Amino acid sequence: MPRYRLHVNSRMRTVDSSDADKPLLYVLRGLGLTATKFGCGLGQCGACTVLVDGTAVQSCQMTVANAQGKAITTLEGLGSAAKPHPIKIAFIDERVPQCGYCTSGMIMSAAALLSKKRKPSESEVRSALEVNLCRCGTHVRALRAVMMASGQRG
Ligand code: FES
Repeated sequence: MPRYRLHVNSRMRTVDSSDADKPLLYVLRGLGLTATKFGCGLGQCGACTVLVDGTAVQSCQMTVANAQGKAITTLEGLGSAAKPHPIKIAFIDERVPQCGYCTSGMIMSAAALLSKKRKPSESEVRSALEVNLCRCGTHVRALRAVMMASGQRG
């Protein structure tokens, strides 16, 4: 069976799969990284968003074969328990999650934005989070959290 070597959360992982087109989302969840959620499987909800080489990518739309050689970061790999990423702290402080299903994807989109722009404008935040659907309506709190994480709000 073909073997794939993936660089996930700063660790090399080996995955056996007979399907080169297997979505990265399934592979990550199979590795026990279940913060990344399956929402639509069609690239339309953002629940499966992870970082690939620092860019927010919908992992249901990337194949395991294409993920090789790239640095993949999931919510579990964003900061550490001892030193959480500021966006995680801000999401907690702003009490963003409601049902929580979209939260991981939203945080990853926000982290990608903050890694490229330290102090994004509100419209840039809205645009970055546009891909992340939230049926609970938490986007206003998420926007506040990103502004807090970027030091633009106390
Ligand atoms: Fe990937 Fe919805 S599960 S975008």
